Amino acid sequence: MSGLTHWEIIATLFYKLMKGVTPAQAKAAGLEAYYANHGKDVFLANAAGDPFTAAYFACKGDPVANLVEDMAAEQKARATYENILNLSDDPCVNDTLKFLREREVVHFQRFGEALDNVYTWMNTKKCY
Ligand SMILES: [Fe+2]
Repeated sequence: MSGLTHWEIIATLFYKLMKGVTPAQAKAAGLEAYYANHGKDVFLANAAGDPFTAAYFACKGDPVANLVEDMAAEQKARATYENILNLSDDPCVNDTLKFLREREVVHFQRFGEALDNVYTWMNTKKCY
């Protein structure tokens, strides 16, 4: 669920970038299809335009599998921010993306600590 906590920052960044943009400017920036479908509203989609779906959140009912999935998601988010940083030349956008990227690193580390705790618990003798 960590991906949800980034949306408010991404949505604010998008809102600020789109504020005052004319339809001609959106078209010149390659956002013609986006503008036609969503105007300047925030529409949750990936870079290819695929809309967000709850199917992106995988869960297996197993704490090890779930935590490893979470850790992979954090690394994928970090890599995505780095890819976007490679494409962006806007200092304000880049500062925001660098902040978000660092959060992904910390989230990955926290999930790793949780995974260690799960393994420790699984390896302890249970007395009921
Ligand atoms: Fe995260």
